[in-house]
Amino acid sequence: MPEGIRPVVLAAGKGTRMRSELPKALHRLAGRPMLGHVLAALDAAGLEKPLCVVGYGGELVEEYVGARADVVWQKEQLGTGDAVRKALEVIGDTAWILVVNGDLPLLTGETLKALVEARGPQGSLLAAEVEDPSGYGRIERTGEGGLRRIIEDRDCNEDERAIREVNVGAYLLPLQPLREAIARVGTQNAQGEIYFVDAVTDLAAQGRLAVVTAAAAESAQVNDRRELALAEAALRRRQVERLMRDGVTVLDPDTTYVDATVEVGRDTVLHPFTFLEGETRIGEGCEIGPQTRLLDSVLGDACKVTFSVLEETELGDGTSCGPFTHLRPGTRTGKQVSIGNFVEMKGVEVGDQTKVRHHSYLGNAAIGRRVNIGAGTVIVNYDGRRKHFTRIADGAFIGCNANLVSPVEIGREGYVAAGSTITQNVPDEALAVARERQRNIEGWVARRRSREE
Ligand code: UD1
Ligand code: CA
Repeated sequence: MPEGIRPVVLAAGKGTRMRSELPKALHRLAGRPMLGHVLAALDAAGLEKPLCVVGYGGELVEEYVGARADVVWQKEQLGTGDAVRKALEVIGDTAWILVVNGDLPLLTGETLKALVEARGPQGSLLAAEVEDPSGYGRIERTGEGGLRRIIEDRDCNEDERAIREVNVGAYLLPLQPLREAIARVGTQNAQGEIYFVDAVTDLAAQGRLAVVTAAAAESAQVNDRRELALAEAALRRRQVERLMRDGVTVLDPDTTYVDATVEVGRDTVLHPFTFLEGETRIGEGCEIGPQTRLLDSVLGDACKVTFSVLEETELGDGTSCGPFTHLRPGTRTGKQVSIGNFVEMKGVEVGDQTKVRHHSYLGNAAIGRRVNIGAGTVIVNYDGRRKHFTRIADGAFIGCNANLVSPVEIGREGYVAAGSTITQNVPDEALAVARERQRNIEGWVARRRSREE
């Protein structure tokens, strides 16, 4: 990228048509706020740190952008032209500015690069040919194909309304001429706002301003919740297509939800109704779903997860989960671990080849290798005030329906008899039995019968 281009993102608007308390820029799609997608595109284009104009809900927007952008305030939202004026007051020294509306979540870095490369002496603007141009400013070109003017939807006459080439909302402009043009913009329009597009039209009158055509899909702006859902579906489709291109099988792209931040290895198969969210990374040759949600989780190769929910969990190679497993934050397994039906874990480390196959709750524990946890085992980790920790060493065998009352330790190859409530440590290779001894009362049924007669 050439030096001397400063990106400016317009994100001060309330987004009245969203009918929301939340500023429009922070409405989420495909796992991140709308503004996050725009920042990611600028990043992908290799541009320098953006300047972000904030206003409505500005504290929240400022908090979200953090160190990723500088922020300037537009306290009253008097229009896009006024927002750019606020940016120009603080922008300092740069030859060009790249202005992007904050409600264009489908815009890509590639397209922004093309916009920069195609610029004329007066800069360039992004346009698209769309099916339904309503709501967009229309593009009128010069005989040479450059920009003549932009006409806002509400200010169009009937002929102009029929134009299907629209202003996407991304512009590369020379700073000094822009300063002069923007000072001349008035509010003589249907909305009485300060339109940035009027400054762009003014620049186009002074020299060639190139029109760069983007794919229609990238021009999708989000003004209301319907457009939010459309953009979400398009982004989701884009993510699924990215995975398929990289060698992932997706059985049903329409019901597979993948965030832009997710990575999946080759030959992994995603079954329907799979949700891959946040910082999730999946290895090669895994089988995920159906009906599975993975949030901020990291899976090795050849893992299998079905009908399950995993949050902030790490699985080693060859580990299987489900159906109906819930792994909560801080669960980490070794290789070839087998976790089955109705098992919940939280804050647990599990060693290689350990089996937890049925109906268990395991919380705050370190479990060794080749341990067998019987059906119905519960680690009693909470005493009503504090959490306590349990250790189960390699090769231990926990019988069905045992309670391990924390803090407690089960030694190497120790055995816990089924139905035991364990409150004391079990030594290596010992058997612990902690339950009432069975008593058989002979003839009891006959005696009761004769009493009742
Ligand atoms: C704008 C363009 C229109 C283009 C369309 C496509 C103008 C006048 N019109 O219209 O030609 O086709 O985008 O994306 O620019 N904002 C501020 N401060 C304000 C007003 C808006 O920061 O005072 C921000 C908004 O948060 C938003 C962006 O600017 O991110 C665009 O504003 P919006 O109201 O959505 O403009 P449109 O009417 O869609
Ligand atoms: Ca808009």
